[in-house]
Amino acid sequence: MQNIKIRNLIIESVKELECISPTPRLDVEILLCHVLKIDKIKLMTSYESYIEEKDLKEFKNYMEKRKKSMPIAYIINKKEFMGYDFYVDENVLIPRPDTELIVEKLYNKIKVVKKDISNGITNRHNNLKILDMCTGSGAIIVSVKKLIQENEVDINAEFYGVDLSKEALNICKKNIKELCVEPIELINSDLFASSKFEELIDSLDIIVSNPPYIEDDIINTLKSDVKDYEPMMALVGGQDGMRFYNAIIEDSLKYLKNNGYLIFESGHNQARKIEKKMLECGYTDINIYKDLQGFERCILGKLVKI
Ligand SMILES: C[S@@+](CC[C@H](N)C(=O)[O-])C[C@H]1O[C@@H](n2cnc3c(N)ncnc32)[C@H](O)[C@@H]1O
Repeated sequence: MQNIKIRNLIIESVKELECISPTPRLDVEILLCHVLKIDKIKLMTSYESYIEEKDLKEFKNYMEKRKKSMPIAYIINKKEFMGYDFYVDENVLIPRPDTELIVEKLYNKIKVVKKDISNGITNRHNNLKILDMCTGSGAIIVSVKKLIQENEVDINAEFYGVDLSKEALNICKKNIKELCVEPIELINSDLFASSKFEELIDSLDIIVSNPPYIEDDIINTLKSDVKDYEPMMALVGGQDGMRFYNAIIEDSLKYLKNNGYLIFESGHNQARKIEKKMLECGYTDINIYKDLQGFERCILGKLVKI
């Protein structure tokens, strides 16, 4: 391979990605920074340098993957979420910025519960129990535990992550370890089917979930980087996308405590259907929150059992 300056490599590579990516320049810069193990500032000051042959080979290899629409996060095995670097591969959904809204609401709710305990409004001698159903990479539960640790929120809590995919749970385990939030108990289960849930009846304070919610008919219309690479079982939510919401709401009645909370991420047009189902099942104080684009994306409700 001939010597090539980084500047020229960027220009050539951006052209190659223009037809498959909406962000060709950004993609090239991320891949180059990853190969060269430098940050963007350093890359900008290296434009006149020549790239070493071994690095060029690795970069070209990544470019071939990107040209086939593989998401950048799977190529570099990394996705930033809530400011933390999560390991990801094709066994887990790539955490989306939209999901940060759920983490924020969950974190705020945990602080409210803690305040109620301190003020004697809630009586409590045992730990708070928080469960993330359909945890995938662990983006939600790992981030919220990390926030609690970093902000030194003084609360005794147990954290659980549940997923049907053993491969996803292995990745979640890796993220728990790398982001130093041990322990989080992982349960391999088809929703609440595992026998482990027998010991969690009437005991959970908060269930949070970003379940698969894409309608069956929509799957084939998704862009190639999603439908050809992300795990189908992380996406498909049944004919109307409501399969998991309905099941989780119904099962939550058994596992949540009185005054426990259920928090969901929803698809663009599902929030009101979820709200209706939650109301039918006895939830009150339901709040729906919008994302930055104005879509209703987060539903939070309280279960009053008696
Ligand atoms: C939309 S992804 C969410 C991943 C992660 N919580 C996030 O927000 O980035 C849904 C997850 O649900 C898991 N899943 C699918 N069917 C399931 C089931 N029946 N029981 C438990 N988990 C399931 C998938 O493996 C996937 O990890």
